[in-house]
This record gives sequence, structure tokens and C-alpha cells, in this order.
Amino acid sequence: MAKASFFLFLIVSIIGLQQVISLTQSQVNYLKQRLNDRFNLPVSDYSQFSEFSETKNEIDSGASIQNEYDEERTINEKSEEHSHTIDVDIRMPDVKPTYENEYFCHAIEMPMERSVFIVGYKPHAEMGTAHHMLLYGCSEPGSQNKSWNCGEMATTNDESVCGDGPRILYAWAMDAPSLELPKDVGFEVGGDTGINYLVLQVHYGDISEKIKEHFTDDSGITLQITDQPRKLSAAVYLLGSGGYIPGHSEVYMESACSYDHSQVLHPFAYRVHTHKLGRVVSGYRIRNQQWEEIGRRDPQKPEMFYPITKNMTVERGDILAARCTMVNDMDKTVYTGATSDDEMCNFYMMYYTEGTLPNIDTCFRANQFKWRHYFDNIPADASVVPDEK
Ligand code: CU
Ligand code: CU
Repeated sequence: MAKASFFLFLIVSIIGLQQVISLTQSQVNYLKQRLNDRFNLPVSDYSQFSEFSETKNEIDSGASIQNEYDEERTINEKSEEHSHTIDVDIRMPDVKPTYENEYFCHAIEMPMERSVFIVGYKPHAEMGTAHHMLLYGCSEPGSQNKSWNCGEMATTNDESVCGDGPRILYAWAMDAPSLELPKDVGFEVGGDTGINYLVLQVHYGDISEKIKEHFTDDSGITLQITDQPRKLSAAVYLLGSGGYIPGHSEVYMESACSYDHSQVLHPFAYRVHTHKLGRVVSGYRIRNQQWEEIGRRDPQKPEMFYPITKNMTVERGDILAARCTMVNDMDKTVYTGATSDDEMCNFYMMYYTEGTLPNIDTCFRANQFKWRHYFDNIPADASVVPDEK
């Protein structure tokens, strides 16, 4: 009897095991088939892109988007031999915003076995619905859910964008033109870059009219991705300050860090960010005590990446510096923090370099750090709101 049940167990186990094996095999074949259309990769590479399969339905459903891209891709393939890009959509899974200033996040996984390169961003947002969108690279997403509330200026119900290591890769804002990446530039993600997930964050604006129609939203970004390393690697360097702004005062929140790596950096876009009290944010490269403006903006204007039109580099020995001019007309002191009642002071510099990226990420200084304690020749217009072009 014991023997019989053992054999029965064995047979059931073998059948069970076979089912597992055949299921895995068919999944692999299925993925190969699906990804074959998308990636021109060696066969061994298919499994690494299984994560993308989830987004394929969305791509298929947006046939018009696909057509727009086919043209661009043809051009791309002509100019760069052996370089093939595919479109990967990261779009809100038909979320239902219910109030103004709601933030939603949605994550997609990046391949772990090796890295891939983002070479283009194309935003898709319905006017009047999405106020702005940000794309973050994370080592862990802020939630395991398909979508979640993720206010940067968090309310009590919100979860964070990333579980760990948020890095901004792209930004889009209503009424602002979309950013073109320079030729041969790629953002490396996946593999051992520390960016295991991309998280899309959408800030919903005034949706009061839409709510009546029981609408859902699929705002997002089409990423052009290739497995071929690019000649130029891009990343974002963040300059920020922490501290406080006393009531009825104007405060300069300042930061500066020296750049001490061999790679020559080419800044090509910048973005500024504060909450309500920010009036001007400006960023500089200081070389031999001479200040060169990287960018200067009113942070109350759409916060996206704006192109840096002049040719400039950041080289070993240079200093990168930023200032946020904050005005507090209230009675209370405002501190830096995550909610809309707190403040932030950020200057983002998007740059590219040849070959590998330097191991730099952030320059962060506390309130007591003041430029005037360290530097001469501070530009007189560092706190002047620039004329909008
Ligand atoms: Cu917004
Ligand atoms: Cu903020």
C-alpha cells in the first residue's frame, strides 16, 4: 500500500513537473514570438526582455502612435547601421483621477541581465488632463500595484515614487515643447545601472469637466530603446539645498560642489523645481572663478527640461553651483520637505559624456551653506527672473 502510493506520488510528480517545463517552454516561445517583431536581437537575448511584453498590448492598441514612429525609426536605421530601436510604452493603465492635483505612478521593469539604452522620449498626454509627467529610474518601485497614488508633495495616503534611489530621466509639462535628445545620446537603464524599474508619475490638473464623462487616462511616454550602446551616455545631475525660509523673508538657498572626474560633461538640458515660494532658480559652472550660467528659470513656469543652447563643458576642477531665491510672505517659517506646505530647491542638469558616466549623482547642501563664504564674482542677475522666450 505504501509502495503503491509512493508510485502514484511519483507519477503525479512527473506529470506535474512536465507541465511546469512545457509551460515555461511555451512561455519562452511565446515571448520570442512577440518580441521578435520588436527587437532585432540575438536569440539568447529574448528572455531579458520578457518584462516588456506586458507593454506590448498597449503599443498594439495605439496603432497610430506606432505609425508615427515607423517613419522616425527608418531614418534612425539609415543613419546608424546595426542600430535598431524599439518603442516601449509606459502609460497609465487607464487610471481614474478623482480630484485636482492627484498624482499617479505606474512602473515597468527593466531587463536585469544586461542594460539597454533609451534614445528618445515621446510624450502622450491629453491636454487639460495631465499637468505634468516625470519619468524616474528606481532600484525599487514605490509600490507593487499596477498604479498607485504617489504625490511628490505627498499627502498621508500617498506612497513614494521609488522604494529606493529615485533618479529623474525625463520630464514633460503642459504648454512646454518636448525635449529632443542630441544625436548618439542614450540613457542606460537595467543591467547593473541600479535602474531596475522605470516609474512614470503623472500629475493630474483640473479634471472637473472630465469627471462627468467617467473618463480614464492613459497618459504616458513612448520610449525608444535599443540594446546597442551609444557613443554618448546621458545622465542627470541634481543640485539641491535643504533648510528653511523664515516668515517675511527672502532667502537664497545655495549649493556648490566641485567636479573631480576625468570625463568631460556636456550639459544639454536643465530643469528647475521648487514649491510655492520659489521665485528664481539658477545654475552655474565656475571655472577659474568665472561664472558661466547653465540655466535660470522661474520655477512657477512649467517644470520640464529646457535645452541649453550654448556650447559648454564641465571639466575636472570646475565647480557646479545652484541658487534658489525663495520669498516667504507668510508669518510662519517654511522648511524643506516632501509636502506642498514644505519647500524644495532643485536644479537638474542633464548632460552627456563619451564612454562611461562619472560616478556622480547629487550635490546637496544645508541652509548654512552660502556662496559668499566661498566664492567671488557671484553674478548680479542670479536672482533675477529671466525674460520668458
Ligand atoms: Cu504638474
Ligand atoms: Cu518638490
